[in-house]
Amino acid sequence: MKIVDLIKKIPKAELHLHIEGCLEPQLMLKLAKRNNIEIPFKNSKEIKKAYNFHNLQDFLNIYYQGAKVLIEEQDFFDLTWAYMLKSKKENIVHTEIFFDPQTHTTRGIEFNIIINGIHGAILKAEKELGISARIILCFLRHLDEKSAFKILDKALEHKEKIIGVGLDSSEINNPPRKFKNVFKQAMEEGFLTVAHAGEEGPPEYIWEALDILKVQRIDHGINCLKDTKLVERLKRDQVPLTVCPLSNIRLCVFKKLEDHNLKKLLDKGLMVTVNSDDPAYFGGYLNKNLIKCHGALNFLKKDIKKLAINSFKSSFLNKHYKKKWIDKINYLTN
Ligand code: ADE
Ligand code: ZN
Repeated sequence: MKIVDLIKKIPKAELHLHIEGCLEPQLMLKLAKRNNIEIPFKNSKEIKKAYNFHNLQDFLNIYYQGAKVLIEEQDFFDLTWAYMLKSKKENIVHTEIFFDPQTHTTRGIEFNIIINGIHGAILKAEKELGISARIILCFLRHLDEKSAFKILDKALEHKEKIIGVGLDSSEINNPPRKFKNVFKQAMEEGFLTVAHAGEEGPPEYIWEALDILKVQRIDHGINCLKDTKLVERLKRDQVPLTVCPLSNIRLCVFKKLEDHNLKKLLDKGLMVTVNSDDPAYFGGYLNKNLIKCHGALNFLKKDIKKLAINSFKSSFLNKHYKKKWIDKINYLTN
């Protein structure tokens, strides 16, 4: 089998995907019209032209602006359902979706509306598409811990729909330690934990996410290579890193994909996975990330197999389902 065909065919889990980052220009225009929201764009071409980022903050400004078209439960449902249909086409059989409730509650949208829209679509996807999905609530790190506590309180009313909490938004000057108490409480309530760290921020932020927030996975984590002790720790504990190659290029963390350190991370024996982050903004869903990496970083069949297996090992699926999918990958690649 050709490697591109293997990438398309192999079952995969996606573990780093912001649902607000799946808002395609066409849907943004449709929802703006449906909800009578003014946006500074007339068509998809104009929207795509604005997607010219120099760093994370450039992107976040546009991303939070785009999210303003999401008003009703149906909007959150439509957004999530569109991603589920994409996932089906890409052979993503399991996905763990981030959502940013504070992006919406600060605009007066009720927590119930957001979570019920997203959850409704994943229930339909489980039933009709055979995809398993979990929801992870991300706290916005540019806001304070008090605001995060308020959102955690809301989440407790929907505990059965949310598997874990994470941390995203502007990384520099918003270290993980700022959220020590809210993560502690979330864990006591039974939520699993992840955090963005080492995307633009220094290795110290990855240490803090591990040792202060006690997370199970690091989102991005690419700056770990600047600290050999940290690499040893990540390797020893096989801490998953949910790497997002096309995102890192679009946000200028690396100049070009050929310069990306993904292959180095893999070759050092770290538990690396590949993900799409905000595919509607970064020019590609999961398979495109893998196909582009294959082209730029000479990924071989064994690398693709390893990444697919890692995606299930790093997931929050139970042992039984992890084994089921890993057995299937082994069968397909024998
Ligand atoms: N929110 C959406 N995408 C993000 C990213 N790549 N980093 C931090 N926050 C985000
Ligand atoms: Zn992210």
